[in-house]
Amino acid sequence: MASIDVCYSPELLHLYDLKGKAVVAVDILRATSTMVTAFAHGAKDIFPVMELEECRAFSGEGCLTAAERNGIKAEGFDLGNSPFSYMNGAVNGRSIAITTTNGTRAIRLSEAAEEVIVGAFLNLKTVAKHLKELALDVVVVCAGWKGQFNLEDTLFAGALVDYLQKDFAFENDATLASLHLYQAAKTDVFNFLRQSSHVRRLENLGIHEDVQFCLQHNLYEVLPVWRQDRLIDLKS
Ligand code: MLT
Repeated sequence: MASIDVCYSPELLHLYDLKGKAVVAVDILRATSTMVTAFAHGAKDIFPVMELEECRAFSGEGCLTAAERNGIKAEGFDLGNSPFSYMNGAVNGRSIAITTTNGTRAIRLSEAAEEVIVGAFLNLKTVAKHLKELALDVVVVCAGWKGQFNLEDTLFAGALVDYLQKDFAFENDATLASLHLYQAAKTDVFNFLRQSSHVRRLENLGIHEDVQFCLQHNLYEVLPVWRQDRLIDLKS
């Protein structure tokens, strides 16, 4: 039986051997939720990069550029990191280069894996189904906040374990704790997260709707995966 592990922060990745495994990279608020939404609204492919300058350089290649730091859209880029900015035909058929505070870093630091999948509550069931088909050992890599643990990514990890616990074994307590947290939260994830640091950070920035939107389960059948230098949607 394949196993599933949870890594609470990219800073802990050196403790995990990703070779031959499937990684699910997650940043619920908001990077991976936004990427899933972009593909659901027709984005062609997405280039997640670490640095602002790297992202800016893509504008010369007909790409839309998106950048966020500390929850705020960075100056001089076409888009920020709110899923709502990727709707209404804004990204249909377009390539997007994106850099965010944590999410794009979690994806790029997972490249050693056999398969890197972008996960969010919005595409939870689609990700779970793909993992069963792959039958590889899994590591859920939580983006966290600047190396710190965060609650929302951990709840997603718990939701995935909750879905897969009949098909995947788990040993480490990080996985067990995320499962228990999700089971405690699942009847009202929004209220469970109300006091969490990033929800308060976004609220202080006047960003309210994004939180509710990103906590919806199974809104899209989208499956972003890493291929060479970009993300593509395996379901398109
Ligand atoms: C991140 O990558 O840290 C987040 O997505 C930040 C945000 O946009 O809320």
